[in-house]
Amino acid sequence: MGLKFDFNNMFDFNAQEHGVSRQDIDEILPEAQKADAHLKKIIADPVERVKLSLEWVKLPEQKKEDIVKIKNFARQISRKYENVLFLGIGGSYLGLKAAQDALRAPYYNEFKSLRKKLPRIYLEGNNLDPDTLTALLKNLNPKKTFVVVISKSGETTETKAAFILVEVWLRKGAGAKYGRQVLAITDPESGSLRKKVELEQKKDILSFQSLPLLKGVGGRFSEFNMGLLHLAIAGVDIAEVLAGAKEMFERCSSEDILKNPAYMYALLHTILYRKKAKSLAILMPFSQTLKSTADWYVQLLAESLGKNNQGRTPISASGTNDLHSIQQNNVEGENNKVVTFIRVEKFKTELKIPAKHDFLSGKSFSELMRLAQEACAWALVSRSRPNCTIIMPEVNAYNWGALLFFFELATAFEGELLKVNAFDQPGVEGYKNYMYYKLGKPGIPQAVAEEIKNKPLIKNPEYIL
Ligand code: PA5
Repeated sequence: MGLKFDFNNMFDFNAQEHGVSRQDIDEILPEAQKADAHLKKIIADPVERVKLSLEWVKLPEQKKEDIVKIKNFARQISRKYENVLFLGIGGSYLGLKAAQDALRAPYYNEFKSLRKKLPRIYLEGNNLDPDTLTALLKNLNPKKTFVVVISKSGETTETKAAFILVEVWLRKGAGAKYGRQVLAITDPESGSLRKKVELEQKKDILSFQSLPLLKGVGGRFSEFNMGLLHLAIAGVDIAEVLAGAKEMFERCSSEDILKNPAYMYALLHTILYRKKAKSLAILMPFSQTLKSTADWYVQLLAESLGKNNQGRTPISASGTNDLHSIQQNNVEGENNKVVTFIRVEKFKTELKIPAKHDFLSGKSFSELMRLAQEACAWALVSRSRPNCTIIMPEVNAYNWGALLFFFELATAFEGELLKVNAFDQPGVEGYKNYMYYKLGKPGIPQAVAEEIKNKPLIKNPEYIL
């Protein structure tokens, strides 16, 4: 049994005047059918698929030999090194972190018994805070560390800066052939990291091995591409992850939109966004191991759809800890949000409270967890607040693959409904251009440079206390 999407609480028969009516669905259906037809047309055309950045829909079906190559790399790395350091940002950090937390045991790095002879895994290159990288490089042994740098462009400041330092650290600690301890995942043809790979390989063919970040697959949609090496190194069954994604794709290819879980997710949220001003999207898994997956979704939704002065604002939370935090606002704050719960039916382990302890006696943690989620849904409905639940039978590779693909398909479809390009991120360029201008990076367009020069931030000392 795979994932299920329960959207009963999105309707007016539960959420009252704040819910979706049957008429709302009937009204949006023609538009949804057009959006579906448009997506299907792009997906069926290999050239358009790459051109319009929808190649990721094909990732669940990738060639066996490509997977074997990735697994071979992983095996070689895991046999030889105690640590693997991944450098990347955006999807190339969040996807890895989401997978690591969902699919590996908590405290994986701390305990040998949990790693089962596999290397420790560290994720960096996603921030310019010097403290974390400093601490890590001071404590890792460069001779025992393999580095995977992930960047499509090779130009992203955070990852590029971290890699420059890591290279110096590796060369110093591991010697001139340090490049044999580096693998790059980058654009197959262009970009500065690809150029670097080519240059280093000319010097030493065994150095800077590489894997492609495929054309038509944007960073936040690339977990089933660039994320596979990490999964293999962490000992996750890649075939299971892809099988889960594939099954979700098949379920979401249904002719009937009302039977398509990802499209229904997008459609109902769009109705509530347009008609009931529900502009906040809170994703709240009731599982600590899925919190990073909620963080991954924040990037997916925000970077894909926050455009043209529209788009729901995503927030990640988790149950039950955030029931003592954001939940108050969810239930009694402004009625401008939709909470999506992820409910896990079966946890990997179980804890039972012993007898002779008041009303909790004999109850298990997972029972309490499920009850808390049900209670939250009830509390929201009782205050006319729409919400929905993704039911995950258990957190495993198959269901996690399906979950990510569910969100990716829903986001692509929501982009069609909002009439925005879900696959670019022009808003991110503003801060980059400003930094590049101040840093004197060559190649900034004249108009952009002029705008930055002529519109400085006004700093009145009176307003700094
Ligand atoms: O989703 C995206 O495309 C972005 O968030 C990128 O992943 C991020 O900006 C990193 O880009 P790059 O892979 O070029 O370093």
